[in-house]
Amino acid sequence: MTQTLPVTPQHPEPAAIQHAAAILQSGGLVAFPTETVYGLGANALDPAAVAKIFAAKGRPSEDPLIVHLASANDLPRVARDIPPLVNALAAAFWPGPLTLILPRQPVIPHAVTAGLETVAVRVPGHPVALALIAAAGVPVAAPSANRFGHTSPTTAAHVLHDLAGRVDVVLDGGPTTLGVESTVLDLSTTPARILRPGGVTREQLEALLGPVAVQTKHEKHEAGLPAPGLLEKHYAPRAALWLFSGEAALDRMQTHLTEFLAAGGKVGVLCADEEAPAFAQPGACVFRLGSSILLEEIARNLYAGMRALDAAGVEVMLCRDFGESGLGLALRDRLTKAATRVID
Ligand code: TXA
Ligand code: MG
Repeated sequence: MTQTLPVTPQHPEPAAIQHAAAILQSGGLVAFPTETVYGLGANALDPAAVAKIFAAKGRPSEDPLIVHLASANDLPRVARDIPPLVNALAAAFWPGPLTLILPRQPVIPHAVTAGLETVAVRVPGHPVALALIAAAGVPVAAPSANRFGHTSPTTAAHVLHDLAGRVDVVLDGGPTTLGVESTVLDLSTTPARILRPGGVTREQLEALLGPVAVQTKHEKHEAGLPAPGLLEKHYAPRAALWLFSGEAALDRMQTHLTEFLAAGGKVGVLCADEEAPAFAQPGACVFRLGSSILLEEIARNLYAGMRALDAAGVEVMLCRDFGESGLGLALRDRLTKAATRVID
């Protein structure tokens, strides 16, 4: 049985937090909001509890988890050989959507790191997540709270859709504000390398660090494991997703939409508000993601849009690329991994 507890996002009720923290302490699973997406948390120091995360998600054990802390002061508990650079990164971006890959402390079990000698760590920027982790008094291992390979959850309803009966408690703190996952940054190389683009942009990191590399699709990281999200396919809706890029993207989307509708297909479109009128054909399911010049709106609504079109029963959803500046890079990464076909 999964219990859902509503909490006020900015001022979570202590009773709900205490109840959820006690479940973490006793080896249970708690789904909770972060600023990016909902996480599926367990006590990171308890291998049996961590094993429940993999079972609940249907996630392969080779895919390591992010450890969440309530404060950067706790970092030495989970990571060692911390480069001085981390102080500046933590001061600039924590609490927030930046995950750092650092050498692990032995106390972090292999179940969390998938046998790697490194651990992924972040301090999430959400009052509910921070209160929960602080009350539990332990680092909290948490992947996104979706079934493996599926679209990440940005509401408690999304979590329940995927994991009802597989998680003890869901703290419902409303929709997440950022909507895409954290940026995963590897500091063991020079220059530092983005393994997964996310909420902290490449430009923001470069303003602090100078040039930063971005791992391309075909590279592997040191341990020889697939880079984050490389386990195809990822972030994916149930329906096929066709991703359009390049100058003619919108024209091509219109053409394909017309063809699908003419053939009697059930089609969805994920587009910016300004673009919606161009897709207003009878029978088309159009989901507006927000203003095309505010990528934070597009990011906030992308996963909800995929899930809404799935719920509407479309066979295929059409979406365009949003460039590579700012959050565009994270959007491109998720859309490419979710896509069944890329047209450019
Ligand atoms: O925003 C987020 O990061 C969310 C919220 C819940 O914090 N979490 C999240 O977790 O997206 P997950 O498990 O869905 O993605 C974690 C990513 C994976 O791609 C994993 O491969 C990578 O982080 N990762 C974890 N540990 C790593 C390590 N030691 N070295 C390289 N990559 C690692
Ligand atoms: Mg995930």
